[in-house]
This record gives sequence, structure tokens and C-alpha cells, in this order.
Amino acid sequence: MKSILITGGAGFIGSHVVRLFVRKYPDYKIVNLDALTYAGNLENLKDIEKEKNYAFERVNILDADAIKEVFKKHQITDVIHLAAESHVDRSIHSPLDFVYTNIIGTVNLLNQAKEDWKADYSKHRFHHVSTDEVFGTLGETGFFTETTSYSPNSPYSASKAGSDHFVRAYGETYGLGYVMTNCSNNYGPNHFPEKLIPLFINNIIHKKGLPVYGDGKNTRDWLYVIDHARAIDTVFHDGKNHESYNVGGFNEWKNIDLVKLLCKLMDEKLGRTTGESEQLITYVKDRPGHDWRYAIDASKVNKELGWSPSVTFEEGLSQTIDWYLANTEWLQNVTSGAYQQYYEKQYN
Ligand code: NAD
Ligand code: TYD
Repeated sequence: MKSILITGGAGFIGSHVVRLFVRKYPDYKIVNLDALTYAGNLENLKDIEKEKNYAFERVNILDADAIKEVFKKHQITDVIHLAAESHVDRSIHSPLDFVYTNIIGTVNLLNQAKEDWKADYSKHRFHHVSTDEVFGTLGETGFFTETTSYSPNSPYSASKAGSDHFVRAYGETYGLGYVMTNCSNNYGPNHFPEKLIPLFINNIIHKKGLPVYGDGKNTRDWLYVIDHARAIDTVFHDGKNHESYNVGGFNEWKNIDLVKLLCKLMDEKLGRTTGESEQLITYVKDRPGHDWRYAIDASKVNKELGWSPSVTFEEGLSQTIDWYLANTEWLQNVTSGAYQQYYEKQYN
């Protein structure tokens, strides 16, 4: 029987991965390991927390002894590793937090897996969840493929690149079984409102300014979070050992076009006059080192493993807005307290 440690399971993407695995695989034991930082929220998992095949462990991945205990207690057979500091703007303020969690935390997990699984690495799998941001930035054309060289530009992407290199090195040096996914920008329910889409949904609800960085022409490739969770399921089970897979939506948007679409949909759903929310757009100082364009070539995961997105952007965005409008209490809870200080520091 598999006993899978999912790290960062109380966060945005992790909570969707935990839910998918708990529901789809009743014979697996799913252990959610999370430190519950500002980004971790057990409210995200209320609907599955009582399931028989689910357990939660509040552990920081910087604590190697605690990781060892969890591996022993639950006889962990596989890891899906999502726990990370994940926000570029915060990495610009505090790069070391990203080095600790994203690099040292990952190496702590790798060390435990290496130790506990050494009898036969072929029976175990370490799935490392990474980002397209490790590849740096694109100009107007081209796509990131699995063989694009790493060229990270932010402390966040540099720390994720570092963790990717360590996973690969443990595979090459010790023979640890691993797969890796490098995904584009996700959006969907439970997304912490520091990232573009949930931040702007929250600000539109409260008729607050929408701070667009630079000229708003930077481009991102957006994927619905549940499609990312499906891709992780596919690669975890069917991906080839020691391979990485790029995951994306073939869905590029310039920030300003996306923000205008969001404003239009929100005006409709909130019964406001067309154009009202667009008035909230303000262009602010650009993010330092702001990557110009991300675009993923997801043909490998599509051709080799049959994965493709299941939700169109229009459907996904509409469902996402509906979720935030139906979960104002969730939004209020996560935007009180420390969030206010973060907001002041970042935007004022
Ligand atoms: P998130 O910030 O919403 O969640 C991160 C989770 O990790 C939180 O629950 C937090 O409590 C936990 N965590 C943080 N530090 C920890 C520590 N030291 N020990 C234990 N737990 C800790 O992040 P997310 O957006 O869900 O991203 C999850 C993963 O997917 C990350 O590895 C990220 O790099 C990657 N990723 C994210 C995106 C995206 O668009 N959000 C895209 C591609 C890849
Ligand atoms: P973000 O959601 O932080 O994701 P990432 O930086 O990992 O791509 O940002 C998405 C895009 O939106 C990025 O180009 C930066 C831009 N952005 C703004 O213009 N204003 C904001 O307040 C934020 C948070 C992001």
C-alpha cells in the first residue's frame, strides 16, 4: 500500500492535490505535511479532513528530526513535494526565507527519502513540484521546453532552480527515484490573495485600486489549479523515472488584458455598470527583475502521458470568481492581521 507524503498540502495547489488523491485513491494513505505559514490554511481541506485515508502533520521542513519521525510513523513510501515559499514579491523582500524552505527544506526531505528507501529505490518515487520560472524569461516568441537551460531571475525562481538541481543530483548520485513537473501560473479557488488574480478579485470586491506593475504587457500562461493537480496525478503515476515534464495551459495573457477581462466578468457578476471596475486600474512601479513572458510547451506530457487541460480559461476564471464571491469569510480570514502589514509594505 502506498503511504504518500504530500508537503504543502494546506496551501493553494497542495490542497487541491490532497483532495484529488484522498478521493480518487481510497487505498492510499495521504499524509499532509505542512508548517501552516501565512499561506497554509486547513480551512482549504475541511471537506476531506475526516476521511479515513487522510492524516495531517504540522511540521516545518527545516526540522529534519520531525521529518524523520513522520516518515517512520506513517511508513512513507512516496513524496509529492509542494511546500515552498511561493511569492516572487516576498522573495525580493526576504530572499533567505526562500533559500531555507525551498532549498534546505527540500534537501532535508531528499535526505530522509534517501535513507528510508535505500533497500530498493525503484519501489519509491519523489515527485518534485516546480515552476516554469526556473527557465527565466522569454521574448515575444518561443516556448520553454524540458531542455531549455535554467536562467532564474528572481530570488524565488533561483531557490526553486536550486531545489530542482538537488532533486536531479540525488537521482544521479544516489539513484533516488524522482519525477519533476515545471508548471506555469495557476489560478483557481483557495489562491492566497497576494498573487495577481485573487488579489485583484478581492480589491474589485472592495472597490480598491488594482496595482498593475509596469506597462501591464508582461505575459503569463495560466492553468486552472485542478488541471495542475490532474497533471501531478498523471506524472506521479505514469511519468518516466528521472524525467521532468512541463505543464501549462497553452493560454497566454498579457496582464492588462487579463485584468480587463476580470473587471468585465466581476462587473457582470456584481451587477455593477460595465467599465466600473476598470476605473480601479492604476499603473505602479514595476517589479525589479520582472520576467517579461512565460510560455510553456506542454507537448511532452500531452503526447507521452495523454494529459491536457480540461477547463477553458473563460470557464475556469468564471468558476474562480464565483468561488471567491461565495467564500467571502475565507477571504476575510486570510486578509486580516499580518496580511495588512504585507499590503502596506508592498503597495504603499
Ligand atoms: P502556497 O504558498 O499557496 O502554499 C505553500 C504551502 O507550503 C503552504 O501551505 C505553507 O504553509 C507550506 N510551507 C511553506 N513553508 C513551509 C515549510 N518550511 N515547511 C512546511 N510547509 C511549508 O504555494 P502554491 O502556490 O500552492 O505552490 C505550491 C508549489 O507549487 C510550490 O512549490 C510552487 O513553487 C509550485 N508552483 C506554483 C505555481 C503557482 O502558480 N502558484 C506554479 C508552478 C509551481
Ligand atoms: P504573480 O501572481 O505574482 O505570479 P508570478 O510573478 O509568479 O508570475 O504575478 C503575475 C503577473 O502579474 C506578474 O507579471 C506580475 C503581475 N502583478 C501585477 O501587475 N500587480 C500585482 O499586484 C501582482 C501581485 C502581480
